[in-house]
Amino acid sequence: MTFSLTAGPADLGALATPLLVVALPSGASLDAALASLDGTLNGAMSRSLDRRDFRGGRDETLHLVGGTAGPSRILLIGLGKATDRSAALRRAGAVAARQAGRMGTGSLAFYAGALSANETEALGVGLATGAWDYLDTKTPPPEDERRAPLTGAQILGADADGIASGSAIAEGHGLARTLSMMPGNLCTPDFLADTARDIAKRHGLAITVLGRTEMEALGMGSLLCVAQGTPEDPKLIALEYCGGVKDAAPVVLVGKGLCFDSGGISIKPAQGMEWMKFDMCGAAGVLGAMEAIARLGLEVNVVGLVGSTTNMPSGTAFKPGDVVKSMSGKFIEIINTDAEGRLVLADVLSYANRYKPAAVVDAATLTGACVIALGHTATGVMGNDPALVQELLGAGTRAGEPGWELPMWDEYKDLIKSDVADIKNSGGRPAGTITAALFLAEFAEEYPWVHLDVAGTAYTESDLGTVPRGPTGVPVGTFVEFVRGRAG
Ligand code: BES
Ligand code: MN
Ligand code: ZN
Repeated sequence: MTFSLTAGPADLGALATPLLVVALPSGASLDAALASLDGTLNGAMSRSLDRRDFRGGRDETLHLVGGTAGPSRILLIGLGKATDRSAALRRAGAVAARQAGRMGTGSLAFYAGALSANETEALGVGLATGAWDYLDTKTPPPEDERRAPLTGAQILGADADGIASGSAIAEGHGLARTLSMMPGNLCTPDFLADTARDIAKRHGLAITVLGRTEMEALGMGSLLCVAQGTPEDPKLIALEYCGGVKDAAPVVLVGKGLCFDSGGISIKPAQGMEWMKFDMCGAAGVLGAMEAIARLGLEVNVVGLVGSTTNMPSGTAFKPGDVVKSMSGKFIEIINTDAEGRLVLADVLSYANRYKPAAVVDAATLTGACVIALGHTATGVMGNDPALVQELLGAGTRAGEPGWELPMWDEYKDLIKSDVADIKNSGGRPAGTITAALFLAEFAEEYPWVHLDVAGTAYTESDLGTVPRGPTGVPVGTFVEFVRGRAG
């Protein structure tokens, strides 16, 4: 779906729009522009505030019918006791846009007073978040029951730069969410590769796609053992964006792209297995971030790497007890075929060496243990470089995608020692998120590296108010903020 953001004037009473959204913090009164709009509504807004029908609390909404001229409808939306105005506007934008989608207004205008570039961008991203929907595999309802999708928003009092950057980031988010939401039979490794080719073509990026044969030649026994049980050709996708100084060391973004994770021979329970189509959210995050970074024209060299396959049980599938040789030369004992993400990432992290990266950040729906530890609120953050960890935590905060660091202490390494190989792919349930990261660290030895475990944050199984059940867009914002933080 296309969604466009534009800037507009702040003359509210005369504004011809199907819906005017007015954002107010807790306990706020009407500014001059709102007071004049209130006049055209015979004081309906001020009366609502006086009666405390609407108090400006977070996510609070009140719907008013417009006058004969000006906006046809008015939606008051609360910002709460906002300390971070950008974050509050991002959230309010999403809630309001979803409400507009339910009403079928088609477009809206949003008023929150004068906005900085940052605030405009955050609000724009929020509005696009709320307008996003996945309709490709649903038959539309009969004509008379259809509601117009929200295809445009005008931000009043906006900053022009914020409109441009907000639109760019929103595109990245939307792409990531659409890829994530797509069923596993449609979003295959091949489809991810085609999507990357499309990004490359539209923005002039270099692209390399390796299949099974090319990966065999590179000795990627770790990635390939996961792909052993599926007829689907696995893909390693490399997108190269050169916005920085020629030959400057790039930052590399890596994504886990399991288009479906059945667990393989160590098969998962049937209950909820359909959610494992979301096991490619890290990969979707990389592709979405590359789309946004290219649109923003950030002055940094960035490589996006995706390791993609599906984890299936079959007569040819890998099995517990097998030992495989990774591209790094390290031997890995397979304890559990459901710990497949780290096997895919291991070889992609070795492949990253060829770029002599300034930093590598991977994102993966890697462990159920991360959902237990941090819930759906924070991304698990671990790495081999304390400064880079802090950089990613900061980027996540700015993007409204908070992360939390978990310790990578040597003591935990004992859990993944193998009797027959250099390392084993599962340390069992204790500290499952940490042992997964320690496993990855063995293959990320040549550069500063951070791992984002987005198992709990990349998609949601309950409606969050801002997003419905399904993909959230995490970690696109974190990636973009991180790269932007490195731009000149
Ligand atoms: N893709 C899963 C992790 C996951 C679980 C993501 C739930 C989102 C929600 C991963 O491949 C996996 O199966 N991990 C195992 C590791 C275990 C076998 C050591 C897990 O978390 O149970
Ligand atoms: Mn798994
Ligand atoms: Zn998985």
